[in-house]
Amino acid sequence: MVQYTDELKEEIRSANDIVDVISQYVTLKRSGRNFFGLCPFHKEKSPSFSVSADRQYFHCFGCHKGGDVFTFVSEIERISFRESLEFLAERARISLPTVENSEFNKTQYLKDRMYKINAETAIFYHERLYKPLAKIAQDYVKQRKLDNNTLKAFKIGYSGEYNELYKMLKAKGFKDEEILATGLVNKTEKGEYIDRFRKRLMFPIMDVSGRVIAFGGRKLENNEKMAKYINSNENLVYSKKKHLFALNLAKQSDSKKIILVEGYMDAISLYQRGFNNVVASLGTALTEEQGRLLRKYSEQVILSYDSDGAGQEAIMRGLSILENQGCDARVLQMEGAKDPDEFVIKYGSGRFNLLVENAISLVEFKIKMIKSKYNLENANDKIRFLKEITKVISNVDNKIEREIYIDKVAESYNISKEAIYAEVNKESYNSKANEKTLVKPAVKQEKVIEISPAIIKRENMIIYLLINHFRESYEAIVTNITLDDFKLEANKFIFEKILESPAEESEKILQTIANIEDQEIQSHVSEILVTDYEISSIEKCIEDVVNIYNKERLTNRKFEIIKELENSSNLTKEEIAKLEQELSEIIIELAKRK
Ligand code: UTP
Ligand code: MN
Repeated sequence: MVQYTDELKEEIRSANDIVDVISQYVTLKRSGRNFFGLCPFHKEKSPSFSVSADRQYFHCFGCHKGGDVFTFVSEIERISFRESLEFLAERARISLPTVENSEFNKTQYLKDRMYKINAETAIFYHERLYKPLAKIAQDYVKQRKLDNNTLKAFKIGYSGEYNELYKMLKAKGFKDEEILATGLVNKTEKGEYIDRFRKRLMFPIMDVSGRVIAFGGRKLENNEKMAKYINSNENLVYSKKKHLFALNLAKQSDSKKIILVEGYMDAISLYQRGFNNVVASLGTALTEEQGRLLRKYSEQVILSYDSDGAGQEAIMRGLSILENQGCDARVLQMEGAKDPDEFVIKYGSGRFNLLVENAISLVEFKIKMIKSKYNLENANDKIRFLKEITKVISNVDNKIEREIYIDKVAESYNISKEAIYAEVNKESYNSKANEKTLVKPAVKQEKVIEISPAIIKRENMIIYLLINHFRESYEAIVTNITLDDFKLEANKFIFEKILESPAEESEKILQTIANIEDQEIQSHVSEILVTDYEISSIEKCIEDVVNIYNKERLTNRKFEIIKELENSSNLTKEEIAKLEQELSEIIIELAKRK
């Protein structure tokens, strides 16, 4: 057995970013320079699995597994350390200095041949498109208004008509079993080899790094009986749920957005008209793997599906997959065309860009879907509409965001803001008991309440400040933030410790915590410590966080007053005037703070 050198090991390590590798198995959420997710090695409901991009290490605060990228792969794939090296070498396309006769190397070799066949095939099809025999395909691309740059960028081609591909591949020295493994050629019962794609316009499907892994072929004849598209079957190098068409191009775009479309032609057509940040989901419902890819390469995903009913259904599913992974997902709304290709040809890229800019959020999309069920001219319908949308709005964690939606709904559907506030307040009061937990709440509370990630992050940051910048932060924090403001048990516990000890001891809070044998507190603190809060000015940071709490207090009071005023029948005129006075002061104060 050939010994792999340390240099080779380092080369493989640096070619496999640990965040990328782990992301293929675990949904990771970024928090500063670190990533968090649910540990794949033990069952857990709240994320204690942390990956440091800087240190290229992972650690689970729950089960204490940890190590580098090789450890991770050998644990998760249940393979030896050496095999993990080979596994990652393959992933990074680094060739190893030996061809042994192991199963691993055989598969490896076959995959390598399949990539080569796919690459040769793409060239073969593409070159054929320019030959006189491809007139039908040339006419078709003209009719679809594809220009030559686009044909080149996507390596669009024209397939053979019978077994031309097979003959070419054989002439290049590929073996029958290698060719069959790609699915590009089939063997008939009579033992004859026939190309899978015949007389079709060919779209090579590439992986993120631009390797050809599969093909889609569109029919050119107007024959109802033929499938419009046929695609490569899944094989050793191709799994359709793990790839997105055109991602190899979109990832090079400067845009922070990625536009997600359904069809090959939509992606290609938009690309030609200046949108170089478009990917297509290969004709399937969006998968979790694809969601992870999108999150990795973009900050915002714009779903731009076909405007038919099926498209709308797909949007709902796609949106929830993306939202669950912490993606900022928006929906593009299109009228007057069945798909983005048709739209951009009909109305131009300027109009399409407007649609991108005006894409709506999940909440707005849900409200729109609810609206389509009702006739708002009808009083009963209007009430039902109001009840349904308040359910949606109440689920929005962020109060400011919630207010924005309320404003929008009030304006667009001509409903009084007060009526919506009243419903939202009722709803959030009623639903408290039914909400699910994200993180274990304080033990003293019987009711299970949801704590939003934003609140957790904010609280953790306060603890972080107290641990790392005690002198600068202590005074401002204890005078403005109370024990009751903390929602997370571990934070409450730590803050209580700080409050109850004299200031000079609180400064050494880390030592105090180290002596506490509570595993949850320990891992919670390590989590805070591995988190990079990207603080540029400590002073500003403290000011901001204190401001958030004060603002929240004002906002809560505002809702309280609104509620009191709504049930004002048992109040005196003076009391009402006083409340109204207070309300307007709060509104002014809040406006100042915006
Ligand atoms: P569409 O029918 O919307 O395709 O299907 P399109 O890209 O707009 O194609 P044109 O404009 O009619 O030429 C969306 C996607 O679904 C997959 C393909 O990936 C297609 O791009 N599909 C569709 C298939 O795989 N097979 C089919 O028969 C149809
Ligand atoms: Mn189309």
